[in-house]
Amino acid sequence: MKKIILIIMSLLTFSCSSKAQEQTMNASRQSEKKILVAYFSCTGTTEKVANAIAKTVNGKLYRITPATAYTSADLDWNNKTSRSSIEMSDENSRPALGGEALNLKNYDVIFLGYPIWWNVCPRPINTFLEKYDFSGKAIIPFATSGSSSIANSVTLLKKLYPKIKWKEGRLCNDNIKQAEDWARQIIK
Ligand SMILES: Cc1cc2nc3c(=O)[nH]c(=O)nc-3n(C[C@H](O)[C@H](O)[C@H](O)COP(=O)(O)O)c2cc1C
Repeated sequence: MKKIILIIMSLLTFSCSSKAQEQTMNASRQSEKKILVAYFSCTGTTEKVANAIAKTVNGKLYRITPATAYTSADLDWNNKTSRSSIEMSDENSRPALGGEALNLKNYDVIFLGYPIWWNVCPRPINTFLEKYDFSGKAIIPFATSGSSSIANSVTLLKKLYPKIKWKEGRLCNDNIKQAEDWARQIIK
């Protein structure tokens, strides 16, 4: 009887220690990847998700900052002459960016967050993707919206920037915990 108990105890000890070892290895593998979480947000929704993702994956947070900030009048989609309406009705519009310069060499993986505007990404995202050389880089898009899906925006991004290794994107309207779980999974 004593022998059986001893065998069970040693088996349990072995399985616990190998599980702990695996978790540690996963964590260190993740920390080896240099991750950037770049996002554009005007009213804070996408920013909240970006903050949570950056914390979860131990990534560097980078705010994509327009040279001229959007006012609430600029964001009025009911007004055809508002800044966002004018920009979004012109597919070649590329609003200038400000903010700190990025050194992409420092990153292997990039999360890219944005709000859905008129079923696509806001034009400052295009400016950002054309300002730096993302060729061969892996980009993981995520978005927030009133209700639209992320699908159309990603289809367009893939078409416009085929040299980027686009990963499956995710709409993060639901809850922050789900966004964190998704981010943890997708970088494995
Ligand atoms: C100009 C403009 C256009 C928008 N177009 C859409 C749209 O096509 N579909 C949608 O579901 N939400 C749309 N929205 C809502 C935003 O996607 C949503 O509020 C988003 O979470 C805002 O993110 P932010 O707080 O990070 O700026 C639009 C918002 C603005 C300002």
